[in-house]
This record gives sequence, C-alpha cells and structure tokens, in this order.
Amino acid sequence: MTDRSSLTVVLAAGEGTRMRSSLPKVLHPVAGQSLLAHVLAASSAGPGASLAVVIGPDQQAVEQEVKRLRPDARTFVQRERLGTAHAVLAAREALARKPDDLLVAFGDTPLISGETFARLRAPLKNGAALAVLGFRAADPTGYGRLVIEGEHLVAIREHADASPEERKMTLCNAGVMAFDGKRALEILDRIGNANSKREYYLVDAVAIVRDLGLEAVVIETNEDEVRGINTKAQLAEAEGVMQARLRQAALEAGVTLIAPETVFLAADTTFGKDVTIEPFVVIGPGVSIADGAVIHSFSHVVQASIGRNASVGPYARLRPGTSLGDGARIGNFVETKAATLEAGVKVNHLSYIGDATVGANSNIGAGTITCNYDGFSKHKTTIGQGAFVGTNSSLVAPVKIGNGAYIGSGSVITRDVPENAMAVERSPQSNREGGATRYRELKTRDKTPKGK
Ligand code: UD1
Ligand code: CA
Repeated sequence: MTDRSSLTVVLAAGEGTRMRSSLPKVLHPVAGQSLLAHVLAASSAGPGASLAVVIGPDQQAVEQEVKRLRPDARTFVQRERLGTAHAVLAAREALARKPDDLLVAFGDTPLISGETFARLRAPLKNGAALAVLGFRAADPTGYGRLVIEGEHLVAIREHADASPEERKMTLCNAGVMAFDGKRALEILDRIGNANSKREYYLVDAVAIVRDLGLEAVVIETNEDEVRGINTKAQLAEAEGVMQARLRQAALEAGVTLIAPETVFLAADTTFGKDVTIEPFVVIGPGVSIADGAVIHSFSHVVQASIGRNASVGPYARLRPGTSLGDGARIGNFVETKAATLEAGVKVNHLSYIGDATVGANSNIGAGTITCNYDGFSKHKTTIGQGAFVGTNSSLVAPVKIGNGAYIGSGSVITRDVPENAMAVERSPQSNREGGATRYRELKTRDKTPKGK
C-alpha cells in the first residue's frame, strides 16, 4: 500500500478531566512513552504519510510533544469542543490536499497497531469510501454501535441516541476510520449536529456515505487494541496490556526473562542476542542491551546503553546518559549518571559515578564517589585506563586521574593524578602498643562483672 499517499489526523483535544491530573491526557505515559507517541508511531508510518494532530486551546505541551516526535507534523487547534467531526475539520487545510487515504485516529487509544491501520486502509484500495474499525465489546455501554445490513455498514448509533434494541448490539465503533481522501471533505462537510448532545459526530459519516451511494465497511479487531483511556485505572490497564506484549516480543526475540511478569520494559527497549533479565527489573525509555548482557534483579535502568556481556546489578541504578562498554560490571548499590564506562570497567559495590568517563579495565573500589556537584554546578571526573581507585575514595570534580594511576583507600582526591602515580590522601595512622588492653581496663575498673 506504499503507493498510496495518506494523511492521518489524530484527535488529541481531550481535556482529560477524569485523569485528575494537570498533565494533558494524551501525554500520560504507557511503557515509557506518551499515549500520543504510541498512536503516532502506529498510525503514520511509511513514505507518503503526512500527519496532522488536532489539539485543544492552551495545549502547548501537546504541541511540543508532537514536534518532538514528528517535526514534519502539523498541529491544528480546535477552539471549541463541538464533536469529533468538528475536530477533524479543524485540520481542513491538510484535508484539502486530498491524500489518497485519510485516517482518523484518537490520541487516547495507544494500543492500536500499525498492522491494524494497514488492514483498515485496504478496502479503500478496492473502492470503499469509508472503512470503520469495529470490535466486540465485553460491555458495550458508552460506545457507538455499528449497524450492519448484510455485508454493509449502514450507520453508527451513539449510545445516547440508541434504542433499547440497538443497545443490545455488541459490535462497537472503535473510533478509528479510514476515508477515501478524495471525497473526505465533501463527506465531513455534510455532517450536522441534530443529536441529543448537539455535537458534530464523526460517526454520522457512515449514513452520509450510504446516502451518496458509496460503500462503507467494517474491519474488526480485538477490544484490547482499541481501549480508550479516560481514567488512571484505564491507564494502568493499558500499561498491563502493553507490558504483556513487550515481554512476549522480548521472549520471542530470544531474551531470557526468568519471571517475565515482574520485568517492566519500555516500548523502545532494544536487545541483542542471549540477553538475560532477572526478576524485578525496571527498564525505562532509551535503553539498549547488547549480546550476552545480564541485568540482575532489582535494577532500574533509564536511557542507557549496555555493552556486550556486561553485567548490571543486582540493585543497580543506571540513570540517563550511562554507557557501559563490553564486559563492564556494575554491582550492587551502584548508581551511574552521564557516565561512560569503557570495556572491562568494574564498579562492583556501593558507588556513585556521575558526569564521568572511566577508561577501559579500570577498577573502582567499593564506596567510591565522584563528587560532581559543588552546590552550584556540575563538574567532570575523567579516569584513564587501567586505573585503580581504592575503596571509600572521594573524587572531587573537576579532576583527572591518569592511565594506570592508583588511589589509596579513603583518599579525598582534589588534584589531578598523573599517569601511573600513586595518590594517597589520608592522615598518618598511629598504633599505641597495649592501648586496647589499657582502654578495656579503664572502662571496667569500677564495674562489677555482669551476673554477680
Ligand atoms: C467515540 C465515538 C464512539 C466510539 C468511541 C470509542 C464519536 C462521536 N463517538 O465516543 O462511537 O464508540 O469513541 O472510544 O466519534 N475529540 C476532540 N474534539 C471534540 C470531541 C472529541 O478532539 O470536540 C477527541 C477526544 O479527545 C477523543 C476522541 O476525539 O480523543 C473521541 O472523543 P470522545 O469524547 O472520547 O468520544 P466517545 O464518547 O468516547
Ligand atoms: Ca473516548
């Protein structure tokens, strides 16, 4: 179908009041991406695909998200909320270009797949003027019902306007539609607002298509794909469906998930071969995990790339901007941020490595802290290759530690350490012969031993 041009109009003007949040509804995340991002990714792939998003007044944050995701997309503002058809017509300028196919999608329906959009477009190629996505609803209350005669879709009846008989029908309108783009404007302009809510209903396009002697058809999909999100409970349900899909896809791609139901992935997580993820791991957006890497339990990873055969955790936190080279090892209670750890680096216990680069094969001892923040700005720590940082060292940035340098345990390093130098910063130790014995005597002199 790549030979046909398409325009997708995504309706995202909802206020989302039932989310009880200051964040616009379509910006809420599922699997680490906004609802809108999911819809845009599924609906407007391929060459010759243009995109228009209809937003509400004062929805600059939504506009920014659209620009971030698709710089080529146009946004249109629907000033008054007068219904779904009215919303589509806010993008009139884009519709006037008459693409072959016009797709209408809702910004709050994130689980829909690209394959379903492709199925929906197929009948247009064979001459249908309108294809509507339908599904069998477990509970059809609230949805528009698809009225079918033989093979043909003849009308969509909104719940509020449906008769008791019609309300018993379970084939429902998912909201997503594909129009013959050459006739879409003509069809949409005929839609009126003679219904109980005085809204311009997109669904009335079906009856108009029939009146014009054109064909409207239904393409069915399952309910999971077309779940609309209006509440936080529905958002959590969608997250569940999406996570189940991502886990399944990871397993099919050969990732070992020991307890898949305890692992959370992001829609953009990428995996190499023979990756293992142990139970109770959370992976946020922007993570790539290369061949043979292992993420041990209770680790949290966001915007990080993990090299081949690297090992992370248990109980590790990789924050944005972390890059681990091949075979790097990050152990328990280690936090990294904006840190490049080259191949073979070990940070095995209880450390913070932030705004830093660590050269290949360096060993960072337990309790090492890069002191990257002086209360005003952030500074960088650079550690060369094959260096050894003793336990409980503070590296006060900005500071450079040369290749092969050795830092004695407990040092507070404030000046650069040259290549292969040994730096020790700690007060001299004093040993007093017999001091412990004398101390115990002093402490017990006037005390009766216990139990007497
Ligand atoms: C709509 C359908 C209904 C379908 C259901 C599926 C219509 C008239 N009804 O009902 O048949 O079963 O979806 O979930 O299409 N929007 C705007 N501007 C408006 C009105 C709506 O942008 O003026 C956007 C909303 O933000 C939302 C979408 O259009 O993303 C659907 O609107 P909504 O009010 O949720 O329609 P439903 O009553 O759910
Ligand atoms: Ca809805």
